[in-house]
Amino acid sequence: MIKAETTKGTTWIQEIVDMVIHGGDPAMCQRAPIHLRHPFIELRCPNIPSGLELAEAMPPPRILKTHLPVQLLPPSFWEKDCKIIYVARNAKDNLVSYYHFQQMNRALPHPGTWAQYFEKFLAGEVPWGPWHDHVKDWWEAREHQRILYLFYEDMKKDPAHEIQKVMTFLEKDLGEDAKEKIIGHTSFQAMKENPMTNYCALPWFDHSVSPFIRKGTVGDWKTHFTVEQNERFDEDYRTKMVGTSLNFCNEL
Ligand code: A3P
Repeated sequence: MIKAETTKGTTWIQEIVDMVIHGGDPAMCQRAPIHLRHPFIELRCPNIPSGLELAEAMPPPRILKTHLPVQLLPPSFWEKDCKIIYVARNAKDNLVSYYHFQQMNRALPHPGTWAQYFEKFLAGEVPWGPWHDHVKDWWEAREHQRILYLFYEDMKKDPAHEIQKVMTFLEKDLGEDAKEKIIGHTSFQAMKENPMTNYCALPWFDHSVSPFIRKGTVGDWKTHFTVEQNERFDEDYRTKMVGTSLNFCNEL
């Protein structure tokens, strides 16, 4: 069983994993919208099958999606020694991306104004819990579990290198031609235009407020943070991230 984890970058890694598992064949990844291909295990919404129901109906090997903090992952994932891929994104861009996502996702509480959401993020009052604990706890877990820990910024900088890591981790070395196809098929623009990845069919996503595949850049936080917010954020960050060997890149 294989699983894609993340704090933003989930859909991107899901599509990469799907392509790798299917030998780099884009036609195979058109078989269904991504939320049906990869059950989101903690999702429960009225009138549609839950993530758990979808997962139970699916034959192995399954690609499952979750945003859960490491402590809340069902123990069976560890017992069955599942392969886990975690994608971490720098905190500032994560905050910006979540702000827009919560505006367009009617299934989540409205984020309020940018200033209000900024405060909520610092207080850790965001879906799936505080970013700082999430990335740190999964980082520690990788020392004793089968976890490939990736960074969104590395994927942007050198997709070929990061896709190779995924192929090696999944024991699917497909060669250079397949890798090129995967890079093309999972580029920002290709995924934005692809109805199987852009979540255009989910009724609770309002893309007129903000498209789900929105900007896909490193450093978008600079267009949102005030100087004062940036200083406060950095100070808070230093306190919360003290002692970890995790290093994030905030701009390319
Ligand atoms: P932005 O809001 O910064 O644009 P998730 O899938 O975990 O909810 O993450 C969504 C974020 O990943 C959005 O970020 C989205 O644009 C970005 N994303 C999705 N596919 C991408 C791709 N192929 N390349 C780069 N970023 C991508």
